[in-house]
Amino acid sequence: MANRSDVATRRARACTALLAQVHAITDKEGITPSALHAIKLRLVALAKRAELFSLADFAMPEAQGRTHPLLLEDNDGHGLYLTISLPGKEAAPHDHGIWCVNAGIAGCERNVLYRRTDNGSKPGVASVMQVGEVLVAPGNGMAMADHDIHSTEVVGAEPSVTLALYGYALARFPSVTWFHPAFSSVRTTPSRRHAA
Ligand SMILES: [Fe+2]
Repeated sequence: MANRSDVATRRARACTALLAQVHAITDKEGITPSALHAIKLRLVALAKRAELFSLADFAMPEAQGRTHPLLLEDNDGHGLYLTISLPGKEAAPHDHGIWCVNAGIAGCERNVLYRRTDNGSKPGVASVMQVGEVLVAPGNGMAMADHDIHSTEVVGAEPSVTLALYGYALARFPSVTWFHPAFSSVRTTPSRRHAA
């Protein structure tokens, strides 16, 4: 059986190879729906290599969720993470402002997709409607364009473990828009794009 440092080396190599594949795709066609789909297939394939992502190597969240960086590119590039979320963790509908792709390693995260239905003319007011649902679980993934809106909920008794690839590292995220459908309200978090 491979020791831990061998696994860490192989994991790092696999993550570097994934990012090389991602750039090969986006250099050719940019961030299009088909490019995001192709990236998703590659991320799902990486997530299936369970031997690289043993939870022995990743601390559990103390509450809610925990995000472990796997590969953060230099020069304001992409960020690849392993995310662990505890059963019952929820996130309200939100728009990251940047594309992202997820793939399941263990557990099940229910994602509901929404479409904004108002014209954005009233500050603080927004309405969204549900347009779909994706379960991110082993063998399955999800891709979202820059302004797609989703909510998440970990379903079942097991923690959800996923790979998450974002167009920017989390520490360099743009403003995230959070929707509260029950109150038709919306708020935004500050952008981190200006941060060092
Ligand atoms: Fe999200």
